[in-house]
Amino acid sequence: MFKAVQQPEYRDESALQKVIAELSGAPPLVTPWEVDRLRLKLADAAVGNRFLLQGGDCAERFDECKPDLIANRLKVLLQMSLVLIYGLFTPVVRVGRFAGQYAKPRSASREKKNGSQFPSYRGDIINGPGFSAEDREPDPHRMIQAYRHSTATLNYIRALGEGGFADLHHPEYWNLGFVANEGLRNEYQEIVDSILNAVKFMEAIAPNPIGEVERVAFFTSHEALLLPYEEALTRLHNMSGRVYNLSTHFPWIGMRSTDLDGAHVEYMRGIANPISVKLGPDTAASELPALLNLLDPDEIPGRLTLTTRFGVGNIEGVLPSLIDAVRRTGRTVLWCCDPMHGNTITLPNGVKTRRFESILGEMEQAFDIHASEGSILGGVHLELTGENVTECTGGAGGLQDSDLGRAYLSHVDPRLNGEQGLELAFSILRKRRRMQS
Ligand code: PEP
Ligand code: CO
Repeated sequence: MFKAVQQPEYRDESALQKVIAELSGAPPLVTPWEVDRLRLKLADAAVGNRFLLQGGDCAERFDECKPDLIANRLKVLLQMSLVLIYGLFTPVVRVGRFAGQYAKPRSASREKKNGSQFPSYRGDIINGPGFSAEDREPDPHRMIQAYRHSTATLNYIRALGEGGFADLHHPEYWNLGFVANEGLRNEYQEIVDSILNAVKFMEAIAPNPIGEVERVAFFTSHEALLLPYEEALTRLHNMSGRVYNLSTHFPWIGMRSTDLDGAHVEYMRGIANPISVKLGPDTAASELPALLNLLDPDEIPGRLTLTTRFGVGNIEGVLPSLIDAVRRTGRTVLWCCDPMHGNTITLPNGVKTRRFESILGEMEQAFDIHASEGSILGGVHLELTGENVTECTGGAGGLQDSDLGRAYLSHVDPRLNGEQGLELAFSILRKRRRMQS
């Protein structure tokens, strides 16, 4: 038996089995062809011919499955990708943390408050965020709700893509009123204008409208944490004989579930999706080769992404040894930087936040360290939303600790707001230009 960490204990086994049976017969959310297409794009990113932009909520919520919230998050990702494509002259593959990001690993299994304690909130797919015994009781039916909300979210994302939301001819639709900082807004507008001109030029000389090319190209990802859910949506593809997780294109293993002999690694070993593994300050370089061998024995291009999340003060001490360990295996992996999860701090009043400067600092260091080690940083993984939240401090908007109370909506980790996300994209662009000059 493989040990499955971070799983809820369902009291009603027969209810659990019914849910699993229902999900196992339900239509998948994505197809093996899409999953393979993404894998090839990630293979490009691993060698520097593409850049991975992965982002979205820390945890999706059932009551936030709303058209405006979904569209705004897409807009931010689109705008950021536009800045990156323009600035890096590199295609970008966009992957959302959405349509399934409902389960959260927790450091503590119980939460104590005002003298009471209940099981921790583990994401809407498992239990509720309210602080009561009833809310915190794991309910297997929540898996069906998660499946339905994921389906509705993905359907809307696909419809927006098909409906011209991402049509290059109308980048003016991509404007967001939330960008209060004039400098940022002007910088973005210049890019939009240049792209419009380039589109017109291309169409003047090319027979096919450029807008037809890769209009949608949004892929989905989530942490493959709740194993009964992931397994119920895992299917054999008869044509290829391979097994795919068809609840998402790109599942990842969180930092708390990467044990070599754990159930999560065992599950991920068996699926053909591209997968990502989170690596943190405690990841031992000496154990990494065995993990990579287990997860990708055939060294399939694009199969493995290593997403590092150390914290601005730790990256320099850890990343070089991990890069070296991978180099010694002779493998090509996609290195991705998650500058969010190592930089979470708790203020004296108990509020969790992240400093924009720390996020930026870890990302810039990741670029530098990869460059000096002769390796390639091929992507970023961010927690962000299109809404004007005040959860992370700093950035051009100058958010202070005292602003955090104004619009703090996250139930788990603090996210960048749209403006901070766009600012980070510009920072990547500037960083890459400095590195090239
Ligand atoms: C996350 O990505 O939300 C997360 C919990 O990350 P990690 O496993 O890296 O802590
Ligand atoms: Co998070």
